[in-house]
Amino acid sequence: RQSIVDIPVVVHVVHNTPEQNVGDAQIHSQIAVLNQDFRASNPDVGKVPATWQDLVADARIQFHLARTDPLGRPTDGITRTQTSSPDWDTDDLVKFSLSGGHDAWPADVYLNLWVCRLRRGLLGYAQFPGGAASTDGVVVTYTAFGTTGTATAPFDGGRTAVHEIGHWLNLRHIWGDDDEGCSGSDFVSDTPNQGGPNLGSPSFPHVTCNNGPDGDMFMNYMDYTDDAAMFMFTKGQAARMDAALDHARMPLTR
Ligand code: ARG
Ligand code: ZN
Ligand code: CA
Repeated sequence: RQSIVDIPVVVHVVHNTPEQNVGDAQIHSQIAVLNQDFRASNPDVGKVPATWQDLVADARIQFHLARTDPLGRPTDGITRTQTSSPDWDTDDLVKFSLSGGHDAWPADVYLNLWVCRLRRGLLGYAQFPGGAASTDGVVVTYTAFGTTGTATAPFDGGRTAVHEIGHWLNLRHIWGDDDEGCSGSDFVSDTPNQGGPNLGSPSFPHVTCNNGPDGDMFMNYMDYTDDAAMFMFTKGQAARMDAALDHARMPLTR
């Protein structure tokens, strides 16, 4: 794909307390991070170890807050819903007005992004391509959303949404989801096979699964490192996201 895909986003803010009702500036800060990270124009991309710099991908995907709502009326791309639920789980209840959340906008036109308080310290979760339209999209907890306001270190770099949108575009975790084993795969050929997730901010190199001398690509957005410690997608991952945009996510590219 030569052209740049520009995806309309609707942010559904579902809040129980005033603090959870994140402001417009925080939402705009999140969109700005997406537009840097999916174009490899993030200020920290130069921290990628030299051995992997040639693998850094400009995924040629951009995002903008929707300008038209499902009825064709002008919108700022943000919905705000006061709810009686203090927090939410991965059961998708936040995605339905009937359960105190907010219904998805049509998933063939918009990327739906819910912001709410998630339980159990969960930062976010995503639906892979191929699921129900009514639950399609990404959920991010309000303390790991954007870079201002309620965003809290070490998850105040907007990278939770980057990671979750990676899943929404069919990317798997870089360690292949087999925890500490070496048999799982992310089905991407240019990411090293890696034992399990990395947390925090590891020092390079971190060798697992005989992947030396360079070791794990823990600075990849699809690992579990801190926001300040992740800053790249690979060309193989960009190709996999491209395939999703060419097939399951194709309507969004029109
Ligand atoms: N689904 C993961 C979680 O909830 C998201 C990890 C995002 N990582 C990050 N540095 N923001 O734990
Ligand atoms: Zn994940
Ligand atoms: Ca791999």
